[in-house]
This record gives sequence, C-alpha cells and structure tokens, in this order.
Amino acid sequence: MERRCIVQGLVLLLIWFNNGAMLVKTEEGAPMENKEKEALYSVIQNFVGGSWNGSGLYPDPCGWSPIQGVSCDLFKGLWYITSLSIGPVLDNSLQCAPGANFTPMLFELTHLKSLSFFDCFSLNQQLAITIPSTGWDKFATTLETLEFRSNPGLTGPIPTSLGMVKSLKSLVIVGNGLTGEVPFEIGHLVNLRRLVISGNRLTGSIPTSIGGLTSLLKLDLSHNLLQGNLPTEIGNLKDLNLMDLRNNTFTGGLVPSLQNMVSLQDLLMSNNLLLGGTLMSIGWSNMVNLTTLDLSNTGITGSIPNSLLGLKSMRCLALDNNHLSGNVPQNLANMPNLSALYINGNNFTGELGFSHDFYERLGRRFASWNNPSLCYNAREIREGHKGPFGVQKCTGDKGASFGQGDKVDRPGPDVNSSLLVSFGLPGYRVSGFWWLVLVRELVATFFLVMVL
Ligand SMILES: *[C@@H]1O[C@H](CO)[C@@H](O)[C@H](O)[C@H]1NC(C)=O
Ligand SMILES: *[C@@H]1O[C@H](CO)[C@@H](O)[C@H](O)[C@H]1NC(C)=O
Ligand SMILES: *[C@@H]1O[C@H](CO)[C@@H](O)[C@H](O)[C@H]1NC(C)=O
Ligand SMILES: *[C@@H]1O[C@H](CO)[C@@H](O)[C@H](O)[C@H]1NC(C)=O
Ligand SMILES: *[C@@H]1O[C@H](CO)[C@@H](O)[C@H](O)[C@H]1NC(C)=O
Ligand SMILES: *[C@@H]1O[C@H](CO)[C@@H](O)[C@H](O)[C@H]1NC(C)=O
Repeated sequence: MERRCIVQGLVLLLIWFNNGAMLVKTEEGAPMENKEKEALYSVIQNFVGGSWNGSGLYPDPCGWSPIQGVSCDLFKGLWYITSLSIGPVLDNSLQCAPGANFTPMLFELTHLKSLSFFDCFSLNQQLAITIPSTGWDKFATTLETLEFRSNPGLTGPIPTSLGMVKSLKSLVIVGNGLTGEVPFEIGHLVNLRRLVISGNRLTGSIPTSIGGLTSLLKLDLSHNLLQGNLPTEIGNLKDLNLMDLRNNTFTGGLVPSLQNMVSLQDLLMSNNLLLGGTLMSIGWSNMVNLTTLDLSNTGITGSIPNSLLGLKSMRCLALDNNHLSGNVPQNLANMPNLSALYINGNNFTGELGFSHDFYERLGRRFASWNNPSLCYNAREIREGHKGPFGVQKCTGDKGASFGQGDKVDRPGPDVNSSLLVSFGLPGYRVSGFWWLVLVRELVATFFLVMVL
C-alpha cells in the first residue's frame, strides 16, 4: 500500500513561472555584447539541435525577439542572460534533441542566476551524458538556482566541483540516472536553502559536511540507495522544515541529534527497512512544529513514548508496518489537529480506547489492523456503527450487543491517496487530506520563492 506524507512538486513549477515573469521586464534598446549572444546561441543549439538558427530566429534575444525560457537583465547598460530553462514546459519552450549535450560555452554565460534542465536527456541518448565536471567555478558568485529534473539519460556522478558554486540557494536534482555518492563538497554550499537530490541511484552515506548547511529549509534525499547511519551533524540544521529520506536503506535508528531540529514540520523516513531503533531515542517535545511523522516500514521497535503525545501540531502520524508493541496511548486523540493515524501492521496489545467521534473524524485515515493482540472497546462505538476495520472487539465488554464487531466494511485507507513525492516521479496521486498538506506546502513555497 502506497500512502505517503508529503508534497513538493509545485515548488519547481513555481520557479518556472517565476522565470517566465522575468521576461516581461526586459527593456528594449540596450545593446548586448556579441560574445554573450554567440555563447547563448551555441549553448542552446547544443541542446535543441544543429538546425536551430538562433541569429536568424532571435536576432535580439533580450529585446524584441525574446526566447522562451531565456531571461536577461541589464548590467552597466548591457544585456546579459540571467536565466536559462531548457525543456518542454510551455508549447514554445526549448526542447532537447536526441543528441543534446552540454557545451563548455555554457560557462561563458557568467551572469546566470538560474539554470534548469527538464526532460532533456532521455534514455535513448546516443551518448552517455554526465553533468560537466569542470566550469562550475565560473558561476561561483552568481548562480542561485540549479535544477536537473526528469532526465533519465543523465548519468554519472554529481561533480564535486558543484561545491564551488557558493552562491547556490537551491539545488534540485530529481528523477535522473545519477550514481555515486553525495559529494562531501556539497557541504560547502552554505547558502543553500533547498537541497533536493531525489529519485536517482545514489549510494553511500550522507556526508557529515551536511551539518554545515545551516540555512537549509528543505532537505530531500528520498528514493535513492543511500545507506549507513544518519550523521549526528544533521542535527545542526535548526531551520530545516522538511526532511525527506524515504525509500533508502539507512541503518542505525533515529540519531538522537534529530531532536535539535526544532523547526521540523515534516520528517519522512518511511521505507527504510533496515533503519531499526526506537521512538525513545529522541526527545520529541523539542519539535513543537512537527506536523507529519512518517516512519512506516522502518523496522522500529518499542512503544510510543509520552514525549510524542505532546506534539500539538501533529496531523499525520504513520507508524505502520513496524515492530511496535505496548498499548496504543489513548492520549493520541488529544492531538488537536491529528487527522491521520496509521498503526497497522505492528504488535500493539490491549484495548483501543478511542471515542466514536475520533474514529469518525479520522475515517479512512485511521488504520489499526494486523495487530493480533489488539482489540477495541465496543462501548465507545455507537449503535448501528462498526468498530475499526480488522480489529476484534475486546472480550468482557458490556453492552456490546450492537454492531457486527470486526466483520466490517469500514474501508481501508484510500490506496490512491498516496503522496506526491518529488514532481516528475510517476505514479503518485493526491486526494483528501493530502490536499491540505499540499496547499500548506504551496503557501510555504511562495514564501520560499520570494526568499530566493
Ligand atoms: C541563420 O540565419 C541568418 C539570418 O537569416 C543567415 O544569414 C544564416 O545563413 C543562417 N545560418 C544557417 C546556418 O542557416
Ligand atoms: C525507491 O527508489 C528506487 C531508486 O530510485 C526506485 O527505483 C523505486 O521505485 C523507489 N520505490 C518506491 C516505493 O518509491
Ligand atoms: C513554529 O511555528 C511557529 C508558527 O509558524 C513559529 O512562529 C515558530 O518560530 C516555530 N517554532 C520553531 C521552534 O521553529
Ligand atoms: C491546527 O490547525 C489549524 C488549521 O490549520 C491551525 O490554525 C492551528 O494552528 C493548528 N494547531 C496547532 C496546535 O498546530
Ligand atoms: C508480540 O508481543 C507478544 C507479547 O506482548 C509476544 O509474545 C510476541 O512474540 C510478539 N510478536 C511479535 C511478532 O513480535
Ligand atoms: C486506484 O487506482 C487503481 C489504478 O490506477 C484503480 O484501478 C482503482 O480503481 C483505484 N481505486 C480507487 C479506490 O479509486
């Protein structure tokens, strides 16, 4: 069953629109150096194909013949390219040809603030395309946004020289075919607010240098083959709102320093089957803004600690398919905003003491089946209603004459409600509760875009 806890795709879309808007403010009349113009034509031609005649089609790319996906700005009375987006975003966008490749001329566009490649390098590429390993130092003080999105034909490692682009605020590498490790040098990008390296085939562990990225608001390393223990240094990320490490093979449990990440709103670790450890390793009460905690399929053991129950902002708590035991604390119902609770597939025991209203409020967002020794208090269930799906009635309950107990048709969680993970990865849908999460993220995103 796929049912996950976060959304981030719209962020990327907004960046595109943002670039589009920049076009509007271009003014005419100012000159552009030939060198800059030729570099632009050459760069684009290397992506979209040799038959693209830039000088013929767009003789004044920063003036009266703008190119979709290209933005300019004035520096000392001359036009320079500040933004370049390659890929099919709009009808008339620059689209890559099968032989698309990077040319070193790219690094002659030294005023670039934003550079993105979307759906450019496909799998049936004649050559293996890799991210250039040199040249990035030319962008060291200018480039703020760099994106490689949905390029399955883009392979090889993340070059260590990306660590030289100190001005980067957002680095997004989603849905490509990259391999190798997350370079230690990523930790030099101290201005990063967003680091998304998701849906590639990266191996190795998270470098300890990650602790240097103290401006980070969002860290997403989901859907890779990363392993090892989470570095203690990760706890230095005190401004981080979102940490998504889903679908990797991390081990060693939740590192205690996580409790220092006091700004965390979304902590997503599901599908790390070898993680293990317990919920007790962390003092949850520090994380006052935690709204989503997704630890499905992580092999955690032990019981639900009291410190977790005090988190008033919690909306989604997914602890399913683990080895948790002990009682299910009734105080979970005191989290005022809790609207999803998944505890199915564990070894919880005793009585589910939630009220009828609680079950009603959560509806399909409550799952407690596959806990062989768990039962529900039938006195809480109103006449004519059924108990939680897949859970037996506690024996010895008085007044339990109504309802057919466990033989219920209370539907399970909506299997199609699983969460958008990283935009560009197929197969995720959003509905119901998750729209709320999405809208919240969207609002946060507008803020982020303004910051960037
Ligand atoms: C590109 O267009 C210009 C102006 O129309 C023309 O002079 C030039 O020959 C063309 N180049 C190619 C390679 O077609
Ligand atoms: C997990 O990540 C791998 C590697 O990117 C990917 O192939 C796989 O589809 C992902 N699994 C899920 C459940 O998302
Ligand atoms: C929690 O969220 C509130 C409201 O957004 C914010 O004012 C506060 O600073 C946050 N607390 C921490 C520790 O980040
Ligand atoms: C509960 O959700 C509402 C609506 O989104 C929000 O205004 C409120 O701050 C939340 N309460 C807590 C304790 O986070
Ligand atoms: C579940 O817990 C009971 C005791 O509470 C124990 O006897 C049993 O072995 C546990 N089952 C699993 C699958 O861990
Ligand atoms: C969920 O999606 C699958 C495949 O897309 C579809 O066959 C199924 O009917 C959907 N289920 C619900 C409850 O919408």
